[in-house]
Amino acid sequence: MNIVEQIRKLKTERRAVILAHNYQVPEVQDIADFVGDSLGLSIQASRTDAEVIVFCGVHFMAETAKILSPQKKVLLPDKNAGCPMANMINGRQLRALKEQHLGAQVLCYVNTSAEVKAECDLCCTSANAVTMVKGALKDAQDIIFIPDQYLADYVSGQTGRRFILWNGYCPTHARILPEDIVRAKALHPAAEVIAHPECTPEVRKLADRVASTEGMCRYVKETKAQEIIVGTEVGIIHRLKKENPEKVFYPASERAICPNMKLITLEKVLWALEDMQPEIDVPPEIAAKARRCIERMLEYS
Ligand code: 13P
Ligand code: SF4
Repeated sequence: MNIVEQIRKLKTERRAVILAHNYQVPEVQDIADFVGDSLGLSIQASRTDAEVIVFCGVHFMAETAKILSPQKKVLLPDKNAGCPMANMINGRQLRALKEQHLGAQVLCYVNTSAEVKAECDLCCTSANAVTMVKGALKDAQDIIFIPDQYLADYVSGQTGRRFILWNGYCPTHARILPEDIVRAKALHPAAEVIAHPECTPEVRKLADRVASTEGMCRYVKETKAQEIIVGTEVGIIHRLKKENPEKVFYPASERAICPNMKLITLEKVLWALEDMQPEIDVPPEIAAKARRCIERMLEYS
C-alpha cells in the first residue's frame, strides 16, 4: 500500500476528515476532503460529522476548528506550524490596547490565537472583513482591528472607516514587492494581477483584483484573462492550475512561501492518524469566550 492508500484507509477507520488550506503542498491538497480559505475551513469544521479533524494548515486554524467542534479530536500534523502574524499580538497586549480605547469594539482577524479571540467582539477573515464592518459593526463608534495593518488598510479603503490599528503583518505577503509586480507585468503584458489583502497597499494598488484565496479561485474561473500573476503564497497555484488547466499562472514572487504551511507533509498526516496526535486543545473557559466572536462572524457570513 502506498502512503496515499494508507492515509485513506486509516482516515476511514478513524472516522476522520482532512481539511487543507489553499497554501498546503500539492500532495496534501490532493488527499484532503476539503481545500479552502480560512472562512471555508471554519464552516467545514463547524459542520462536519466526522469524529476527528486532521487540520492541514497552521495552529490558529486548528484552534478555530477545536473551538467550533469541542467534542471532536483536532489533529495538527506538525505542532510547530504556527502563524507569525497571529503571534504578533497576545492577550496581555490586547487588554492593554483595549484599556487605551475603552468602549471600542474589537474586530480580530481569524489569524489570532484563541487567547486573543477570547478578548474580542467579532472575528473576520479576509473574505468577509468588509461585510463585518459594514454589517455587524455599522453602529460601532470606534473599532480596534487586529493584528493585520494591511488587511485593515484594505477594509478602510472599501468601507471608508478608520480603525485603531495594531502593527501586525504577514511576513510571507510582505515579501511581495511592487517591483515584483511591475517586473511580472513587463514580462507578461496580457496577464491580470490578483493580490491578497495581506499584501502591502503598494502591491494592492497594482492589482486588478484583491481577494481572499477562495475569492481568487472564483475570480480566476470567471475572468477572460488567460494569464494571471498571483500575488499571494505560491501554494495556491497548484489548485488554480488544477481548476483552470487552460490558463497560465505566474507567482508575483517566488519568495512568497509560508514556511509554516509547508511543514505539513503526507508522512506527518499519516503519523497523525496513526498516533492520533499532535492534538490541539483549547481550555474550555477560553474556548467559550472565543466561540462567541467566531459564531457571530459565521452568522453574518
Ligand atoms: P485566506 O485563505 O482566508 O485568504 O487566508 C490567507 C492566509 O494567509 C491564511 O493564513
Ligand atoms: Fe500566517 Fe502569512 Fe503564513 Fe498565512 S501566509 S499562515 S498569514 S504567515
